[in-house]
Amino acid sequence: MADLSTKYLGLTLKNPLIAGSSPLTSTLDNLKKCEDAGLSAVVLKSIFEEQIENDSELAVDGAQEYLTHADAYGFMKNASMEREIDGYLTLLEDAKKALDIPVIASINCRQNGSWIEYANRFVACGADAIEINHYIVAADVEIEGGAIEKNYLSLVKAARKQIKVPLSLKMGSSFSSLANLMRRLDELSIDGVVLFNRFYSPDIDTKTMSLIPAQMLSAKDEYALSLRWTALMSEEVRYDICASTGIYSGDTVVKQLLAGAKAVQLCSVLLKQGLSSVSKIEADLSSWMDSHEYSHISDFNGKLAQERVADPSKWERSQYMKSILGAQKG
Ligand SMILES: Cc1cc2nc3c(=O)[nH]c(=O)nc-3n(C[C@H](O)[C@H](O)[C@H](O)COP(=O)(O)O)c2cc1C
Repeated sequence: MADLSTKYLGLTLKNPLIAGSSPLTSTLDNLKKCEDAGLSAVVLKSIFEEQIENDSELAVDGAQEYLTHADAYGFMKNASMEREIDGYLTLLEDAKKALDIPVIASINCRQNGSWIEYANRFVACGADAIEINHYIVAADVEIEGGAIEKNYLSLVKAARKQIKVPLSLKMGSSFSSLANLMRRLDELSIDGVVLFNRFYSPDIDTKTMSLIPAQMLSAKDEYALSLRWTALMSEEVRYDICASTGIYSGDTVVKQLLAGAKAVQLCSVLLKQGLSSVSKIEADLSSWMDSHEYSHISDFNGKLAQERVADPSKWERSQYMKSILGAQKG
């Protein structure tokens, strides 16, 4: 039987299937279930910088009568932040005690700031790695593209300087030059990048002419963007690429590994089909490897990355002409 182990962020994983950050990774009970289902690592639900701040503001509002000194404001604010962080630290500590698989802490942050301190507290509690979950919806007409990229780079630079465990960045795909940004991230000695986070966009109900919530879970065919960028970049950067979004089957995992991903993150498939889907995905990966006589993932990892295929431009082309011609012939 094939050996499914892989190395991601310097961690040896028994297979490439990681539980991505979601409600499924927010309680000890669920984390244990993830391990029992066969996942090889878990990324905890993100702690949000905003969440901490909003919560602390609420606590301060509710205690106004006690706030006669400026220092007291700081105290109350910190007390509330501490509660938020304590909950996360407890989850992390409990998870480290109860699980044998690596536990990755995730922080959603907006800029350089005190969150790096929190990250180091997570490290002290045993986090095997830190995943920074950062995104900016570039909807401000005054902000130029370069400034947004600078924000990512300065955030990662500050984090890299202070965080001593493996560090990854989970990012979106909307940049004017994603390849250039990914190369510059490499210069900052980051250990991994997760391609991509999936952002919700509200929809419109035409009957009521009102906004309706976005589809929370991805569909099976949403993996193509991450597949393309994994293939384009996996041989261009030294850090590990972890593919995310729309990964539902062993077949898609094989594709991402062929494109050069070292691991994948699963989320919607687990929420829609349950944790029992993990053993099927794992079995399908294993039987594909057996049928192609690959005994290790390294035997085929990156085989179809852009740098290694006969016609590398195929990963770049938009292919419109081909489909138009095909449609005309048909
Ligand atoms: C309900 C829900 C909550 C999520 N919460 C987080 C989170 O806290 N941090 C994070 O980085 N990603 C979060 N995600 C994003 C997932 O980890 C994942 O990147 C995304 O859903 C795409 O993968 P998928 O197609 O397998 O769902 C969440 C996704 C869902 C559906």
